[in-house]
Formats: sequence, C-alpha cells, structure tokens
Amino acid sequence: MSILITGIGELTTNDDELGELAEAAVVLDGERVAWVGAATAAPDADERVDVGGRAVLPGWVDSHTHLLFAGDRTAEFSARMAGKPYQAGGIAVTVEATRAADDDVLLKNLLLHVAEARRQGTTTIETKTGYGLTVADEVRAARIAASVADEVTFLGAHLVPAGSDAESYVDLVCGEMLAEVAPFVRWADVFCETGAFDEQQSRKVLKAAQAAGLGLRVHGNQLGPGPGVRLAVELGAASVDHCTHLTRSDVDSLAGSETVATLLPACDLSTRQPLPDARALIDAGATVALASNCNPGSSYTSSMAFCVATAVLQMRMSVAEAVRAATWGGARALRRESGDGAVGVIRVGARADLHVLDAPSTTHLAYRPGVPLTHSVYRKGTRLA
Ligand code: NIG
Repeated sequence: MSILITGIGELTTNDDELGELAEAAVVLDGERVAWVGAATAAPDADERVDVGGRAVLPGWVDSHTHLLFAGDRTAEFSARMAGKPYQAGGIAVTVEATRAADDDVLLKNLLLHVAEARRQGTTTIETKTGYGLTVADEVRAARIAASVADEVTFLGAHLVPAGSDAESYVDLVCGEMLAEVAPFVRWADVFCETGAFDEQQSRKVLKAAQAAGLGLRVHGNQLGPGPGVRLAVELGAASVDHCTHLTRSDVDSLAGSETVATLLPACDLSTRQPLPDARALIDAGATVALASNCNPGSSYTSSMAFCVATAVLQMRMSVAEAVRAATWGGARALRRESGDGAVGVIRVGARADLHVLDAPSTTHLAYRPGVPLTHSVYRKGTRLA
C-alpha cells in the first residue's frame, strides 16, 4: 500500500542532494520511501494525507538507551537534586530490582518505554543489557531486548557486581557471558569510568567482543576526563557516548576518526554535570549524535525533542545541527545511515519513518521548548500516532 504525504511546509531529508525542501511531498510504499520531491510533481498513491504546511523530518534515531530494567530510583534522584553527586554505584540498585523481576515485567516495561518514545517521534531505538550482570540475567535481557528494539548492545561490563572481584568478573564477561549473549546482539559496550572499568579492563572487554564479531561502543568521559575516547578511537568503535569531559586531544582524535561522539545532554542535566562542548567537536569536524540515554538512574527521559532543545539553547548547536545529530547522527552511530532501509534520512529506498511536527519548521523544537510538537509518526510506512 502506498501513501502520498503532501502539503509539507518544510521537509528535512538529511540527504546531501535533496537537502531541505519547501512545499514538498513524500510517497511511502510499504516499508520504504518511494518518492521525494516538490508537491506539485508528486505521483499518485493509494492514499493521500495532506499535512497542512507542517514540517516533516526523519523519525528520531535514539542510539543510546538502557530500557531493560525494573524498579525505581526516585530517591536517588531527589538526593542528587539536594546536592549528592551521581556515582556509578547506583546501577546496583537497578540490578537488584531487575534480577528480581519476571520476564513479562521486563518486557512490559520495555514495551511501555518504547511506545512512549515512539509517540514522541522516535522510530529507531537502541537499547542495552547491563542490569543483569550474571550470564543468565544478561542473556535474558538481550533476548527480551532483541524482540523489541531495533538495535541491542551487550553491556555486561556496566559495573562489577557485588560479591565479584573485578578481574574475575571481566573474565566472565569476556568468556561465557559474551558467548551466550552474542547471538542476540550486534554491539558490545563498556562503562569505562572511575568506579566501573579501567582502561585495561575496558580494552580487554572490547577486544573480546570484537573478536566475537560484535561492533563496539564505549561509555566514556562521563564523570571526568579518562581513556574512553582514546580507546574507542583506537579500536574503531562506532561511537563513544557521553563525552562530557573532553581534552583537546580527545576532540582532535574524534575529528580524525569514524567514531561518532554521542552526546547525552539529558543525562548531564540530571546528574548535574556540565554539558559537553558540542561546538568544539563540530567545529573540529567530528560527527556528533544526540541521544536520550533513557535509564532509571542518570537520565529518565525518552524525549529526543528535549535533547534537541537543550543542545540548541544550552550547547550552542544550531537547530539544523541538533536535528541532524538526533536523526542522521544517531543512524551513523548505529551504522544505519546508508543503503536499503537506511534510517535518519528521507530518500528513495530509506525506511519509511517520518515525524510530522505540529509546527511549520524544526526551529519550533527549540523556539517552543517543552511543548509537545509531535503531530504524527510513521514507522516502516505505518502511522503510529
Ligand atoms: O549511561 N553510564 C553508565 N550507564 C548509565 C547509567 C545507568 C544508571 O545509573 O543506572 C548512563 O548514564
């Protein structure tokens, strides 16, 4: 079945040749985009939807979330807002609640969070394991995640669980846990941070994952300067996420690499960290993505629009840069920005994922921060909201 979406006042395509179009139309055919161009030249389709001059952009690509969890960390958040610093150790609270939850509770939570994100325009979502930290619990998380999310990342190296010593836990992650989880995931990640895994342990986990055929991502430079970015670039990771505390040499090495710097501003606000220096990264030529980092501890929001507004209002990104980072940038961080079924772009052959704003331009995402601006969402050619 084909759908002609017409009456588009402003169309953001993220395609180098198409650029941004005014008075545009798009034809969706099944799960793919079949045609893009001027509304006056649009071909016929089975169904016609006039969006009345609204802005249309690719669905958000949220390339960093932790949605396999149970339990609640409101008390930790409140304590933080009263001045207590964020610490990696808070993860253990969610690990305990997640281990105690039945499969159907974990699945229900995941579905609720994914539905919440989709209602707000997110059409591609990555999520991670990392609140299980035993072989059985990590496999369970990966299996449930793979039944729902577009991309799944193994994060057995999220925290050394209580009762284990770091070296033997790293051996478990690199051995039996990796072997059992690998069939369900495409990526592996490590929390390379003080209080979690040091450089040597992180390198060991990443190399083992690479040898098992997984793509790499790194949680790095979140709570202070550290080796995360260096390691990610050295090992050719697809992204290094957080990047809150970067040195000049981190910025330069990202700029000279294929590793995407994924910025998580909602997390920095929620942990009362400084916001990352997006300007330095972009001006140096690094590829930047924006993601929600939705998780119960450090960033409990699924709102990509909030991340975009924050990036523009507080991180000196232009609206165009922020929107691109939350769509094409996320797709690039997941290596899904090109080819048949690409996401984060609107071009012939791309996945038919559109976000229609209740606004005439994407500028309104920052101009009207906090206002729900999603009019409708199409994912794989089907209208969701
Ligand atoms: O991305 N940095 C590590 N993991 C999460 C935090 C998870 C938690 O606190 O539960 C993050 O911020």
